Amino acid sequence: GKGLAVFTSGGDSQGMNAAVRAVVRMGIYLGCKVFFIKEGYQGMLDGGENIVEATWSSVSSIIHKGGTVIGSARCLEFRERSGRLKAAKNLVDRGITNLVVIGGDGSLTGANLFRSEWSSLLEELVRTGQITKDQQTKYAHLHIAGMVGSIDNDFCGTDMTIGTDSALHRIIEAIDAIVSTAYSHQRTFIMEVMGRHCGYLAIVTALTSEADYVFVPEMPPPRDWPTKLCDKLEQERSTGQRLNIIIVAEGAIDRDGQPITAEKVREVVVKNLQQDTRITVLGHVQRGGNPSAFDRVLGCRMGAEAVMALMEATPDTESCVVSLDGNQAVRLPLMECVERTKAVTKAMENKDWENAVQLRGKS
Ligand code: F6P
Repeated sequence: GKGLAVFTSGGDSQGMNAAVRAVVRMGIYLGCKVFFIKEGYQGMLDGGENIVEATWSSVSSIIHKGGTVIGSARCLEFRERSGRLKAAKNLVDRGITNLVVIGGDGSLTGANLFRSEWSSLLEELVRTGQITKDQQTKYAHLHIAGMVGSIDNDFCGTDMTIGTDSALHRIIEAIDAIVSTAYSHQRTFIMEVMGRHCGYLAIVTALTSEADYVFVPEMPPPRDWPTKLCDKLEQERSTGQRLNIIIVAEGAIDRDGQPITAEKVREVVVKNLQQDTRITVLGHVQRGGNPSAFDRVLGCRMGAEAVMALMEATPDTESCVVSLDGNQAVRLPLMECVERTKAVTKAMENKDWENAVQLRGKS
């Protein structure tokens, strides 16, 4: 059977295990020899015990677990050609020519670069006597299928990334808890949520928790936001509301590109309204815990689709990313999605907010 390997790379997210499980089982079902690569690109490069054959039962009882049971890492060495050469040798040694990568845009870009260099890497391995000519011919093509595992939902091309829904469950539970104590003491709470340069978690959190104000990276508030914020909080209190909730995305910025931190917001509220104000930073709690039903199903569907994409690939099939479009798992050109994702960050750097929102909205 064909050699196929699965690995998780970059920050973990809930639902990655469901995806790993689906890849292994669909791979075995279709007659592949399936491998785990542990610890992301680092494991691919180090080889040895990090690349092990998977069995049907080795992915039993992982679907409900948060994180990734095969480990994940950020690997600097893979950014160098010398690192990728070592990785290629390890794959050829085991007959692996199909890779499923579960990670963010950086990890997917790395995989695509690896694929485009593959033939020159094999050439060098033959030249330096590390693999034979026969191996070079037999394993001439590397195929890549990606899936986005991230709580941030920051990838263009997919409606939801694996982990986002679970993170929202965690956040909502925490905010509901905060609201009850805020009510008792008539307090204002500022909650910082994750998302890196993406405001998705913050927006959905704000909508579903009846927050009074939200700060996101893609759409900085007007320059007089301190006045607008205070007016809004006062207005809510004047209608009998006993508490205020403000959501701050960790990447929130103002119109000059300067961070709007929870601390900055607190200073504004305390100085102008003298409200009893507290900050809660949710942090990595958002990335942990059991995956939701949605993320388990999403991981399963994407994992199965990724394997099918690889099995149908021909030597000139482009690397793909498996995405969710409506309720459909689809395959999209990986690099096109990566470029679109990068364009959002670029628009934000250029303070072109209108474009940033537009591009993000196209998911
Ligand atoms: O990308 C996922 C994420 O949790 C972001 O929301 C956050 O900015 C970042 O990773 C935190 O990274 P680390 O786990 O390295 O602290």
